[in-house]
Amino acid sequence: MMTDPQQIAALEEIIRSRRSCRSFAGQVPDEVLQKIVDSAVYAPFGAGAGIPLKEGRRIFIFRQGTEAMNQAQQIIEAQLRSGASKIGMAIRFLPFLRKKMRFFALRISITAAQGISGLTDGSFYIVVAEKKGFPPLAEQALAHVMENMWLTATAHKVGFQLLSVTNGLARNTQFMDLLGLPPKKWALSGCIVGIPQKQFQRKRKRDTEHFIHWVK
Ligand SMILES: Cc1cc2nc3c(=O)[nH]c(=O)nc-3n(C[C@H](O)[C@H](O)[C@H](O)COP(=O)(O)O)c2cc1C
Repeated sequence: MMTDPQQIAALEEIIRSRRSCRSFAGQVPDEVLQKIVDSAVYAPFGAGAGIPLKEGRRIFIFRQGTEAMNQAQQIIEAQLRSGASKIGMAIRFLPFLRKKMRFFALRISITAAQGISGLTDGSFYIVVAEKKGFPPLAEQALAHVMENMWLTATAHKVGFQLLSVTNGLARNTQFMDLLGLPPKKWALSGCIVGIPQKQFQRKRKRDTEHFIHWVK
């Protein structure tokens, strides 16, 4: 099989320039959104759990400015407030958790107070649901889904923010009602896509040698 050096260089460029975007302005065209969500369908799934892809994956798109988006935002903000308060209590009364959770506790309390700007400035909030089965591979599969969409967005110069608060919404009956899915049977993952407010930062250089170990 012939390899295409230009294609390989382009892939490397996309992988290395992928960044998290947390401030958005402008509108992602629907055709570009379509390419991003199409790539989600091509991500791997845990076939060994015996759930066919067509039965086990759903992609939900919330468009900025719609009633559904407003509802999602309100549910997420409530979820963040309740998460921040539970973690705050945990580290106050359970000292052995303090060291482990302190960093995250501070982060979630800031996010709960400030809100997530992408939910008002991003063009779309995309939620992907993967049906849970055995072995429990749904969340891993969702990570692949998100990466496919993230790289596709990067190739189109579209900003992407993972929203891990979405994962916990799988147990939120109000949110699952909004999606029309029963709670507990599906895992969720979500992201915001939008036009980046700032130019993508310059490419990073990472010391790959630090991470790689040949096992002899
Ligand atoms: C499992 C996972 C969950 C994440 N959740 C969030 C999130 O909720 N909000 C957010 O802004 N970024 C989130 N991120 C993005 C990371 O913060 C980001 O990838 C990291 O800071 C490196 O920056 P980069 O994406 O620009 O390379 C998440 C990343 C991973 C892998």
